[in-house]
Amino acid sequence: MLESDNNGLQNLYKSEILGNVLFSSQVIQQRVTELGKLITEDYKERDLLLISVLRGGVIFLTDLVRKIDLELSIDFMGISTYQGSNPTNTGIVKITKDLEESIEGKDIVIVEDIIDTGLTINYLLRNLRSRYPGSIEICTLLDRNIRRIAEIDIKYKGFTIGEEFVVGYGLDYKQHYRNLDSIYELNISMIKKDIDIIKNSSSDNL
Ligand code: IMP
Ligand code: MG
Repeated sequence: MLESDNNGLQNLYKSEILGNVLFSSQVIQQRVTELGKLITEDYKERDLLLISVLRGGVIFLTDLVRKIDLELSIDFMGISTYQGSNPTNTGIVKITKDLEESIEGKDIVIVEDIIDTGLTINYLLRNLRSRYPGSIEICTLLDRNIRRIAEIDIKYKGFTIGEEFVVGYGLDYKQHYRNLDSIYELNISMIKKDIDIIKNSSSDNL
């Protein structure tokens, strides 16, 4: 029998690649509850639509909506950033899946897993603003503001983090580890080169 940690997951596949727990499941759930309360207070009698960015934001969105005590809708948008031959994030973004419904007149909250340089969300904001929403705000679980390039006004934020590359609770490393219910640092020594590549570029479906 393999030993399980307090997330109930078996340790074997995690032991080499995952470092410290940065935010435990309990701490995340507590913060998600607080954010849900804030949104509930702010959006009474408004036409609230939460838009999640595939794929990383989905886990956060599904917990968050259950902490909002209002009538609301959800929708999803898929985006990928172009890298081309340029090793840095250019902020040029392609929509891989568009929204199902019109957002005209609606009060939008964009739900993101992490805002890093801000280039992706900046593109998304410009794109959504051109569709005549009533209002747009941002809710991100993690804010890595030390790498910010585009100036972004974030109304709801879970936690601020530093340089460390993190996985779990929607955040991936090579599309894995999104299913962990705590947020972990990656074991830097094993994958330093990869992390630099990931941070400076982007992949399909963030
Ligand atoms: P940016 O704000 O345009 O730089 O891009 C943010 C996106 O990069 C996020 O939505 C994530 O998909 C990805 N990302 C940035 N930092 C991390 C991290 O530490 N772990 C996993 N994904 C990350
Ligand atoms: Mg993302």
